Amino acid sequence: MAARKEDIARTPSTRGPTMAEQADRHSLYEQSVQNVESEVEFIVDTFKALRGRAPLSFREDFCGTAAAACEWIRQGPAQTAIGVDIDAEVLSWGRSHHVEKMQPGQQARLQLHHENVLHVTAEPVDVVGAFNFSYFLFKQRDQLRAYFESVRTGLTANGLFILDAFGGHEASEEMKEKTKYDHFTYIWEQEKFYPITGEMLCHIHFKFPDGSKMKKAFSYDWRLWTLPEIQEVLLEAGFRKVTVYWEGTDSDGEGDGVFTPDEKGEADAGWIVYIVAEQ
Ligand SMILES: C[S@@+](CC[C@H](N)C(=O)[O-])C[C@H]1O[C@@H](n2cnc3c(N)ncnc32)[C@H](O)[C@@H]1O
Repeated sequence: MAARKEDIARTPSTRGPTMAEQADRHSLYEQSVQNVESEVEFIVDTFKALRGRAPLSFREDFCGTAAAACEWIRQGPAQTAIGVDIDAEVLSWGRSHHVEKMQPGQQARLQLHHENVLHVTAEPVDVVGAFNFSYFLFKQRDQLRAYFESVRTGLTANGLFILDAFGGHEASEEMKEKTKYDHFTYIWEQEKFYPITGEMLCHIHFKFPDGSKMKKAFSYDWRLWTLPEIQEVLLEAGFRKVTVYWEGTDSDGEGDGVFTPDEKGEADAGWIVYIVAEQ
């Protein structure tokens, strides 16, 4: 969802444009939310471990700026990628900020589809990825199963569907969490959580050193799906095997970015996992 003009707060003392007014929400999102290098590394390593070869073709569903699809292309000359997003504005941003900056040969291996992920028209691929919990927008079990079924039919015979999920007791709290970066502060807000439906309303805001704010730069109207539900629905959609990859911890008890197969997990306050569903 786009930041609205009235959501960009102006400090009274500032005459020129505020830092919020000059900022680019897609660039801020990429800097604070995404780590496409580690995402692609996880996909490649997991595919090699399960299939004994490097994956070649990748479809990034809910691709936004297509940062992961572009990172995929950079893996080597045999790699191809498709990015799928329903929003023409974010695709156009990705095209001008990422795709057009790549070599012509790299650009030729990447397609951006302005489509609904429920109805993708593309060649089958080795891997479909859906990251940053984007599929949480499907709130009904039937809708989620229909999406997972459509992903399965878009995979090659040994293809993998890789998605992420988050949870833990903090996930259902109404709260705000701030993370400071060099030139801005990222604020994750869980504004509403409804225990009976599992629905949640979340926002990303950005705050700047001059005091200006970009409120509701992005908003998410989601259902907080649980891991048992997601695994069940993937199996109902016809995937043969589903494995959850749990994150290890460093000496301070923080996530270490290393995800390995696990069957039970731990009662952490807040966790993120990868889920791998095999065709
Ligand atoms: C949370 S962003 C994800 C961006 C990026 N993939 C990431 O990992 O951070 C969700 C994206 O999904 C797109 N989207 C929402 N509904 C969609 C649908 N039905 N089909 C395709 N894209 C959709 C939105 O336009 C938005 O760009």
